[in-house]
Amino acid sequence: MSIITENTITKNVLENGKFPSNDVMLDLNDLKKVYPTPKGDYVVLEHLNLQIRKEEFVTIIGHSGCGKTTMLSMIAGLNPISGGNISVLGKHIKGPGPDRGVIFQSPSLMPWMTSLQNVLLGVNQVFPHATKAQRNDIAKYYLQKVGLEDAFHKKASELSQGMQQRVGIARAFAIKPKVLLLDEPFGMLDSLTRGELQDILIEIWNKEKITAVMITHDVDEAIFLADRVVMMTSGPRAKIGDVLDIDFKRPRTRKSVLEHDDYYKYRKHLIDFLEH
Ligand SMILES: Nc1ncnc2c1ncn2[C@@H]1O[C@H](COP(=O)(O)OP(=O)(O)O)[C@@H](O)[C@H]1O
Ligand SMILES: [Mg+2]
Repeated sequence: MSIITENTITKNVLENGKFPSNDVMLDLNDLKKVYPTPKGDYVVLEHLNLQIRKEEFVTIIGHSGCGKTTMLSMIAGLNPISGGNISVLGKHIKGPGPDRGVIFQSPSLMPWMTSLQNVLLGVNQVFPHATKAQRNDIAKYYLQKVGLEDAFHKKASELSQGMQQRVGIARAFAIKPKVLLLDEPFGMLDSLTRGELQDILIEIWNKEKITAVMITHDVDEAIFLADRVVMMTSGPRAKIGDVLDIDFKRPRTRKSVLEHDDYYKYRKHLIDFLEH
């Protein structure tokens, strides 16, 4: 039996299953992705439809290899679309742009540059008309937000993995994107660091009022962070299989989430989906 009850039915959905267009930040419309391979075309994604609202935090789960990274890199404009379209605020995307920031599993910083210089790389590109002092202020503000106020001038190669990912988060927020795309950003971190960075991420996301789309393989992380958890079917021809609304109030603490009666219902729903 489905556990989808009144409180998990997505609110504000019109009869055609779509949100009012004014509410929509990101619209994936009949998206398709084909990779050519030596054995012929491989259809990774097909008939994939998903709308994400302004200021929403959506997490994506699905089996390894189903096409999550493919979908996210298409939204980022880094991977060509084979069919359908993607729009941000109603405009079709044609490639990467400063309206979308990306955080990957590994932050790929310039190892010989300092934290500050790494963040400035993006800031300088996106705000070419700001003064040098203004750009420095932006970069330092976000580095301080992620807890790196003492490491502005440390080289990236001298930072721990957790600190490098903090720089990655600061770098992504500092370009002030409308949409933040995250591909298993905490997957390589120990659980304590992961928890700290989840809290930092939510705090900045909440303050900046941006839209976040985050892939994770961690069901608990998916529930803790999200307004909605999107479940992708297994490939080939993967699409959206199910969507679960997470109705916990914000701000959330791990304790309040774990103690909430609905937590285990949500968790069971996601695990049942992944096991079938
Ligand atoms: N550049 C590529 N060329 C051919 N096949 C690819 C390419 N990138 C990914 N794939 C294949 O597409 C499928 C989806 O990959 P991916 O999007 O990385 O999945 P996920 O992130 O869900 O683990 C996998 O079967 C993968 O092998
Ligand atoms: Mg992936």
